[in-house]
Amino acid sequence: MTLTFIPPLIIGHRGAAAHAPENTLAGIREAARQGAKMVEFDATITGDTPPVTVLFHDDTLERTTDGVGAVDQVPFEILRGLDAGDGERIPTLIEAIALVQELGLLANVEIKVAPGRDVETAEAVMATLIAHWPEAGPPPLISSFSIEALEVAQAQRPDWPRGYLIWDKPEDWRAIADRLAVASINVNAERETAESLQALQGSGRPVLAYTVNDPERARFLFDQGVAGLFTDTPQTLLPVAADYPAARVTLSNP
Ligand code: G3P
Ligand code: MG
Repeated sequence: MTLTFIPPLIIGHRGAAAHAPENTLAGIREAARQGAKMVEFDATITGDTPPVTVLFHDDTLERTTDGVGAVDQVPFEILRGLDAGDGERIPTLIEAIALVQELGLLANVEIKVAPGRDVETAEAVMATLIAHWPEAGPPPLISSFSIEALEVAQAQRPDWPRGYLIWDKPEDWRAIADRLAVASINVNAERETAESLQALQGSGRPVLAYTVNDPERARFLFDQGVAGLFTDTPQTLLPVAADYPAARVTLSNP
């Protein structure tokens, strides 16, 4: 399956994290309100058996909620009672899927693995997506920093596009990208140079870069041919993207 867009693509990061609590339904709505056509959010597991899949970035609750402890040790019933910012609740992945469909947004579901539970997290997230993502219309882009998680995605829905998320680029990144048959390489914008971006794009895949909020940095990256940017502030970068000529880019696994 393919996910097609007219770049440069502006992807709301964790919804629209500079404007609404991250990884909440309000954040996804805010990204759409600002004009983003695609949102990224992080999906992980709760402490239930079997786990519930929810939107959450950190391993622990303290930074973004009024709770304490490890997300994957706390049952959903307790998580749901927490304040995730401005009175927002931690959403289930099912709720987020329904909302992006309602808003007509493309989505990048980042599998954020619970510590030491890569396969289990990926299996739970993929099970939710397979059960609830509509077959009609564009597929989700599935990404992860975890190779094991991407392998689960590859095994379960080989036809859904995958994004290989990189922080520290390993020597054999190209072999890994080939083996995982990924549709895109998603890199940290601050850790790449013009040269490294050319090498990444030389692998024949679109490059997406996170997390870019500065218009000048966005221009530099678009000038290097980067196909899309994750941003906390879509409304800041959408005018920059509009300055670049439209060309069709397809995210599909080779
Ligand atoms: O997927 C892009 C970006 O979300 C990766 O970093 O830590 O914000 O999930 P992080
Ligand atoms: Mg993320």
